[in-house]
Amino acid sequence: MRAVVLDTDDQFRVTELPEPVPGAGEVAIRVAYAGVQYGDVLVREGHFPVPRPFVPGFEAAGEIVAVGAGVPEARIGEQVTALISGGGYAEVVTAPATLAINAAGVGPREAAGFGWVTPTAYDLINTVARVQPGDSVLIHAAAGGVGSLAGQFATAAGARRIVGVVGNPGQVDYARRFGYHQVLVREEFPDALGEEMFDVILDPIGGSARVANLARLAPFGRIVVYGNIADFAPVTVSANDLLMRGQSLLTYNSNLAGQTDPQRLARSADRAMSLVADGSVHIDITAEHGLDDVETAIMNLAGGATRGKSVVRVS
Ligand SMILES: NC(=O)c1ccc[n+]([C@@H]2O[C@H](COP(=O)([O-])OP(=O)(O)OC[C@H]3O[C@@H](n4cnc5c(N)ncnc54)[C@H](OP(=O)(O)O)[C@@H]3O)[C@@H](O)[C@H]2O)c1
Repeated sequence: MRAVVLDTDDQFRVTELPEPVPGAGEVAIRVAYAGVQYGDVLVREGHFPVPRPFVPGFEAAGEIVAVGAGVPEARIGEQVTALISGGGYAEVVTAPATLAINAAGVGPREAAGFGWVTPTAYDLINTVARVQPGDSVLIHAAAGGVGSLAGQFATAAGARRIVGVVGNPGQVDYARRFGYHQVLVREEFPDALGEEMFDVILDPIGGSARVANLARLAPFGRIVVYGNIADFAPVTVSANDLLMRGQSLLTYNSNLAGQTDPQRLARSADRAMSLVADGSVHIDITAEHGLDDVETAIMNLAGGATRGKSVVRVS
């Protein structure tokens, strides 16, 4: 089969590899489209320790063509999107059966765009921050994969006010399509907000933005830390100060959830998938690349040139 390999020289190459065979509890999927996500950038930049050569690609959609021991044969032929720990940029990939999410209600391209970002955005809003009707919500990286979905899930949860932050003025109108009432450019945050405080803040940024976010959290507010796009430096928070204001500092790690409680992650993915299938939530696929163009897809994401979601056409 054709597959993209990231080698020790940091180069991506399309190469021929043997097709993987599903082990116990796994399925093999003939991949139609794979989703491009920030984890690809982190692997490329060495922030995730993976053995090289490595077949990247953390989300792949297509048809189940074989099952391993313990997986019902009836799943063969099912259209799925799989949350995987690599191998998606290849014609066939194996995946844990639990995390091969039924995607019969959407096409394979949209299913690839679903990826990890959709259950992540769903969980951030609903499972972790538990956005309630009437809440105000502040979402950073609002034009990105998670951000463009989180705005929609916050709307579906009944948020009263949703404010997004993006990197440049060109992203403002784009982000507003996803339920945001106001979108700020990064330099405007936090001053343009006046004295406004938020019930829920989603923070994948880190560093000084995280410090500014904590200062914007309303009494009984919930801040969810789920990434460090800008800065990996630790940010120290006083538990006693949080207690005095009734605030909660929460985190989310979908990768860890996939390893430790895949059933729970799959339940969230199923709920998110129903909202996509019934049209309540739109996955905005803005770029499609070929298998021989994975490097461009990842570099565009790393350079901030991607809006919404990009996918790779595999077969
Ligand atoms: N913990 C988890 O379970 C989990 C799951 C999925 C994703 N994540 C994390 O969430 C983050 C977003 O993921 P994604 O899939 O939405 O990524 P994405 O589609 O690549 O979006 C990344 C966004 O980050 C913004 N950005 C880039 N550099 C920035 C900087 N220096 N400061 C502030 N914003 C910056 C860009 O916004 P502009 O273009 O507007 O500048 C871009 O829209 C990543 O850090 C990822 O690792 C975590």
